[in-house]
Amino acid sequence: MLAIIGGSGLSELSNLDVQHRQVVRTPYGDPSGPLLFGHVGSQQTVFLARHGYGHTIPPHMVNYRANIWALKQAGAEAIVSVASVGGIRADLAPGVLAIPDQIVDYTWGRKNTFFEGGDTPVRHIDFTTPYDQPLRARLLTAAAEAGLLVKDGAVYGATQGPRLETAAEINRYESDGVHMVGMTGMPEAVLARELDMPYAAIAVVANWAAGRGDSAQGVAIDKFGAVLNVAMGQVRQILQHLAEAE
Ligand code: HPA
Repeated sequence: MLAIIGGSGLSELSNLDVQHRQVVRTPYGDPSGPLLFGHVGSQQTVFLARHGYGHTIPPHMVNYRANIWALKQAGAEAIVSVASVGGIRADLAPGVLAIPDQIVDYTWGRKNTFFEGGDTPVRHIDFTTPYDQPLRARLLTAAAEAGLLVKDGAVYGATQGPRLETAAEINRYESDGVHMVGMTGMPEAVLARELDMPYAAIAVVANWAAGRGDSAQGVAIDKFGAVLNVAMGQVRQILQHLAEAE
């Protein structure tokens, strides 16, 4: 079964025919909301809204461990995350979709591992390739089948939020090799890896990052909604094709 974690602009999945909801408790606390089970196409799918169904949980307060644990426990075998980002690289303009292939993590103070000592031996995990390559390839194929242009590969910089970045921070991230910034990619990706769940993301560019393009003098946050609405229609098409290809 495929899991989809929806972010800003995708707190519902209109092509999911919801058959039941499940409230899950985990050893790490409560996930962002009930899991919604249903089908996309003929494919059994479970959906979770990262920020809660009323979009009330800010990025640094999301219980990422509970979310990933709940999906694993529910039988999800792979996770596709949908996340909005600010674009830094010249081709990552508002409205563009990208399938990132790398991460730089700038977040702090988040519970970022399931391994917390006690009786369990320390386990280090390989994170050279943070996104699952076969799942990325399936997303790219699904996008091509949907007739959509998506960017293959980008470095996702995970920022702490909930504030947006300063222009100088964006310059620094760019010199670090970061192509786009978002607030939720970590620790979500590493927690999925710790539980051996293939994880990949569809990043939706909501805006030019601070100091870039039409965000030169400030980021017009009130315009995110309109950009995301259009792009999320495309995300739904990709997910539909992904499900049909199963
Ligand atoms: N920065 C961080 N996260 C974001 C942005 C941004 O500019 N846009 C959407 N999510």
